[in-house]
Amino acid sequence: MCGIVGYAGPQHPEPTTRPLDVALQGLARLEYRGYDSAGVATLEGERVQVTKRAGKLQNLREVLGENPVTAGAVAIGHTRWATHGAPTDGNAHPHHGGYDGELALVHNGIIENFAALRAELERDGYTFTSDTDSEAAAHLVAREMQRTGDLTAAMRAATARLEGAFTLLAIHRDAPGTVVAARRNSPLVVGLGEGENFLGSDVAAFVDATQEALEIDQDQVVTVTADAVTVTDAEGQEITDPRRYAIDWDARAAQKGGYASFMAKEIHEQASAVADTLRGRIEGGTLQLDDMSVDESVLRSIDKIVVIACGTAAHAGSVAKYAIEHWCRIPTEVELAHEFRYRDPVVTEKTLVVAISQSGETMDTLMAVRHAREQGAKVVALCNTRGSSIPRESDAALYLHVGPEIAVASTKAYLGQIIASYLLGLYLAQVRGNLFADEIAALMEDLEQIPAQIQQVLDRADEVEQLARAMRDATSVLFLGRHVGYPTAMEGALKLKEIAYIHAEGFAAGELKHGPIALVEEGQPVFVIVPSPHGRESLHAKVVSTIQEVRARGAKTLVIAEEGDEDVVPYSDVVLRVPRTRTLFAPLLTVIPLQIFACELATVKGLDVDQPRNLAKSVTVE
Ligand code: F6R
Repeated sequence: MCGIVGYAGPQHPEPTTRPLDVALQGLARLEYRGYDSAGVATLEGERVQVTKRAGKLQNLREVLGENPVTAGAVAIGHTRWATHGAPTDGNAHPHHGGYDGELALVHNGIIENFAALRAELERDGYTFTSDTDSEAAAHLVAREMQRTGDLTAAMRAATARLEGAFTLLAIHRDAPGTVVAARRNSPLVVGLGEGENFLGSDVAAFVDATQEALEIDQDQVVTVTADAVTVTDAEGQEITDPRRYAIDWDARAAQKGGYASFMAKEIHEQASAVADTLRGRIEGGTLQLDDMSVDESVLRSIDKIVVIACGTAAHAGSVAKYAIEHWCRIPTEVELAHEFRYRDPVVTEKTLVVAISQSGETMDTLMAVRHAREQGAKVVALCNTRGSSIPRESDAALYLHVGPEIAVASTKAYLGQIIASYLLGLYLAQVRGNLFADEIAALMEDLEQIPAQIQQVLDRADEVEQLARAMRDATSVLFLGRHVGYPTAMEGALKLKEIAYIHAEGFAAGELKHGPIALVEEGQPVFVIVPSPHGRESLHAKVVSTIQEVRARGAKTLVIAEEGDEDVVPYSDVVLRVPRTRTLFAPLLTVIPLQIFACELATVKGLDVDQPRNLAKSVTVE
């Protein structure tokens, strides 16, 4: 939530476009984090120049003109997802700080004690022009700068007074060429360039300028100039060996590449994305994970697994439960991270917590990870974003390797999360001896087929798109599934709600008769996800009965079924086919028509598929 970018480059004799170019390009790639308003600040000689506008980045671009220049060497930028204060020009960032507006600051997060700070600063004669919590931080840093004359020291002293979560970036009239930043419970990474350096909420902010990054830890302050990056801790001690890493994301991944939307592109990338998640996992006949630093003896002793995640990632977790319990025989619970944390869960040293998160920054999940570790549990993170908080604060990490996901609605990361859960399940089964090596090899062999099978589903996207176009006026759609089809139904409904703004609900098919069937009336569209007829026969038969039941009550039945499954045909208005695979692997295929359906429906309705209303990609507030 909220995207932040910072740049420090060389001082040019003439005004230059570079600082504003970097800031605006960075904001364009971070806009998925929030798009209520956008703004930039630069230093123009003695003046700190702030330009900001409510609405999308385009509004800011229009005010700045075609090739905006600056006389200075630094720029900071911000794209906002509103928390305190409406999305207006005045509440947009950057905020001026100081009696003369000598500082500009951008903020991501929530400052919990802002009201007290604001009262204190107003008593000192500082003038507030917005309703935001962030403006208090701007004046606070400016006041400390006046006291110390050193922007780094000022940032450190100011952040010591702040409660809550924040990433802050500031520039000051008296520190030309310098951007100072700090973070607590909110993301910040540094990009290391040649003769220029960068700051961002994530590496997307500067991925086309450098492939080298630095992780910034809790409560550290980082001072960035064209030639130097200095990291200090809360006491002002220099961190001499901050963690460096290479960015493995290609800048092209952050472009639409001819698709109408990032979501469409990311859906169509899923075959290769999943192949990347699977790549190189078997070495010398055994399964290898990325940072699996939990001792095998600990993994052998665990007696319970709790999967924590939110939204789509939680649906991936629900699929994981079926696979892990089946292969490892370890009781596995799946819980929304925000519910887990506040209900006093039973967690011991024998509990393995699996945290699933594309961004690695979801605050609800991060807080749940901390809570679990405080109780002595070991935490394994399944994440997409290297250097993000959740894997860094976990005992072990397994990365999805699906590349950057830009669209707010998660698609390829969802498949990556499911694959990563399978890999973890198989790894546990290997370590604990639940499965023989040849059984694991056979399962891996079938998993290796999945990318080609995903491609087969994608090759039939036309059929689904036609269906979506025909249903553009639908006002409510139901989704039914059993077993692993149930989380798929939930995911299909979530996709439709979030990007097409259509009322949608996913149900366990067996639950239908216990209430939801009352919703079914003439013409009600109902997607039904049918398990393989080659799996457990009773499971297949039960779902075919469900199709009959809703059809008998007038539903329009939209059925996702395996190729060759003729049992569904008499009761289906539309059948969408997926290739045959193991029942447990089917969610990797059956969700794809549902993703395409939502994407196309939103597109024909003329909606902004990549940036749906009220949402932001990375939910970094609780
Ligand atoms: C839905 C969606 C969200 C996220 C959720 C968790 O399409 O994207 O529901 O899945 O906010 O985000 P991560 O995986 O980043 O923790």
